Amino acid sequence: MFPVVLIGFMGSGKSAVARRLARMLHRRALDLDAMIEHDARCSIPHLFATQGEAAFRARETDALRHALTGHAVVATGGGIVTREENLALLQNAAQNGAQIVYLRARPETLAKRIRRQPGTRPLIDGQGAPLDLPTTQARVEELLAQREQSYEHAATLSIDTDALDAYGVARLLARQLRCH
Ligand code: S3P
Repeated sequence: MFPVVLIGFMGSGKSAVARRLARMLHRRALDLDAMIEHDARCSIPHLFATQGEAAFRARETDALRHALTGHAVVATGGGIVTREENLALLQNAAQNGAQIVYLRARPETLAKRIRRQPGTRPLIDGQGAPLDLPTTQARVEELLAQREQSYEHAATLSIDTDALDAYGVARLLARQLRCH
């Protein structure tokens, strides 16, 4: 058995899908953001504010490397594809049998989901008051444009999530993964 790694932009549902999919596949769910928060003993926005993004990214790579050694369902953070080192780790894992699943969603969908959890995403709205929907969507579009190709390239499997809830995505994925 090999890990199943969920990648995708903030708000694509990686954490919620990982929990449900892990239950369906009788595996453990791992969430890199939660692992980092646990190790650092503080929230991601606090970590960004006090230690900066680079320190967060270093912790994220360590957490990814650790998570890839098991056969858990792994929820990554949306920025996992921004470091070459992480892309190499994902590629190597895929070559060894891991499934890297891209949870694709349109910017409108992502912006709406992100606004439901204000103040939790430092790269979108962590620096101040919650943003309105058009501003959130503009930030999503800008960042997604920089990352989209990397998500597509790193993935061994992609799924359009706009019309599905986390349970629906997990069910679809469980069926596809069992057939592999
Ligand atoms: C980030 C996404 C977040 C978290 C951090 C940075 C990003 O995770 O890792 O705020 O760069 O896209 P989610 O994708 O779970 O929101």
